[in-house]
Amino acid sequence: MKKHTRHLILALVATLGVAAVPVSHAADTPAVETLRGRDVAEPELDSKVYRQERDRPPIPRDYVQQPPLIPHVTESYTITANFNKCMDCHSWTRYKESGATKVSITHFKDRDGRELSNISPRRYFCTQCHVPQTNAKPLVNNTFQRAEGLR
Ligand code: HEC
Ligand code: HEC
Repeated sequence: MKKHTRHLILALVATLGVAAVPVSHAADTPAVETLRGRDVAEPELDSKVYRQERDRPPIPRDYVQQPPLIPHVTESYTITANFNKCMDCHSWTRYKESGATKVSITHFKDRDGRELSNISPRRYFCTQCHVPQTNAKPLVNNTFQRAEGLR
């Protein structure tokens, strides 16, 4: 009986699997479209084409809530579940000797607004929000104006 049920389930899975295949036909599926439309050049995926910009002083912000852009190379700075290279320089215990800006006090709050004694899990993966700069040309023109309070 049990074996019988198992066979039935396997047969059902197989049928569903086959039924799902004809949905995508490469020929008549339109190309993936970006939010800005289709006439945007494909970004070059080979990371060797673009170089990260050299270290420089902090980059002015364009609006006050902006995560500051990273003004230095980050190529060898890994962040794993157990180790965060960024905090080697940006933590409150290390920033003085490294000359880096200490992580913002907002980075110690959890999602329920509780203040933690160490960096919050929601702020742990720094490069989710902070991005290094490369010498790549912009894909599209950008007419963004710096926020009024920062001009
Ligand atoms: C070896 C030390 C070191 C490491 C590692 C490091 N940084 Fe930095 N970082 C600095 C220094 C020094 C500055 C520049 C501070 C200055 O000139 O005022 C800086 C600046 C920054 C700034 C700009 C701050 C501002 O106020 O504009 C950001 C953002 C930043 N780093 C993020 C990161 C992230 C994310 C990582 C990990 C991927 C990282 N850093 C790893 C030393 C480091
Ligand atoms: C979810 C987005 C997010 C993540 C993840 C995040 N940050 Fe930030 N960070 C921000 C924003 C937004 C600001 C500016 C507003 C503020 O201070 O909260 C900021 C500000 C900063 C500043 C400037 C502080 C100052 O006094 O001017 C530094 C340095 C910094 N972050 C480093 C880091 C590092 C290092 C990590 C990883 C351990 C990290 N951040 C993770 C969003 C983030």
